[in-house]
Amino acid sequence: MDARQMKIKAAAAALAHVENGMRLGIGTGSTAEEFVRLLAEKVADGMAVEGVPTSERTARLCLELGVPLKSLDELPHLDLTIDGADELDSRLRLIKGGGGALLREKIVATASDRMIVIADESKVVETLGAFPLPIEVNPFGSASTLLAVEKAASRLGLSGALTWRHTRDDELFTTDGGHYILDASFGRIRDAEALSAELFSIAGVVEHGLFINIASLAIIAGADGVRTLQAT
Ligand code: A5P
Repeated sequence: MDARQMKIKAAAAALAHVENGMRLGIGTGSTAEEFVRLLAEKVADGMAVEGVPTSERTARLCLELGVPLKSLDELPHLDLTIDGADELDSRLRLIKGGGGALLREKIVATASDRMIVIADESKVVETLGAFPLPIEVNPFGSASTLLAVEKAASRLGLSGALTWRHTRDDELFTTDGGHYILDASFGRIRDAEALSAELFSIAGVVEHGLFINIASLAIIAGADGVRTLQAT
């Protein structure tokens, strides 16, 4: 089974949690897009759902495939969000934001009764941090914010390259909300909760990609089939 097939398997298993009439948060990234494709088939067969997309990219795909969309202001309370992750550990702590949608993803996930993560086995790690942590930063004073992030990290014994994300055309990447992304290569993040608190104490940090106590279930597809991880 290749990586795409695993993503489809995880997405298909997540679809079993979707019920007629649900208000759904719809994630961003290649795994979430497999979910959108399968959801669109259900909608074409008559399932009634309303989706709130976590990015402009996801919104475009949903519109193209006929998945009905609403804004989060129209549907401020959602039943379920289904989204991918860049990394997850056994306690269902996540790193997200590889696609730059972390702010909307976190707002949508926390507006939902439940968040289900869909991923292939390669995303499961013992300790978060091999994947650079995306930190969403307000453009105003971004150089000062970088220094503040560096200092905050060093208080926790963390160091490593802090890199502004760029597009393929070498322009500074901006999120759907007009912010920059600082990718932090800290390596092993032993205390994700402490790092989260430190980052939130910095005025220029809008959001970070650590999702802690948000996901309630992870559906992981591997070569041997699909398994689940439950939040304890
Ligand atoms: C988007 O900002 C991310 O949080 C994605 O959910 C994450 O990067 C996973 O993407 P893939 O499913 O493409 O790996």
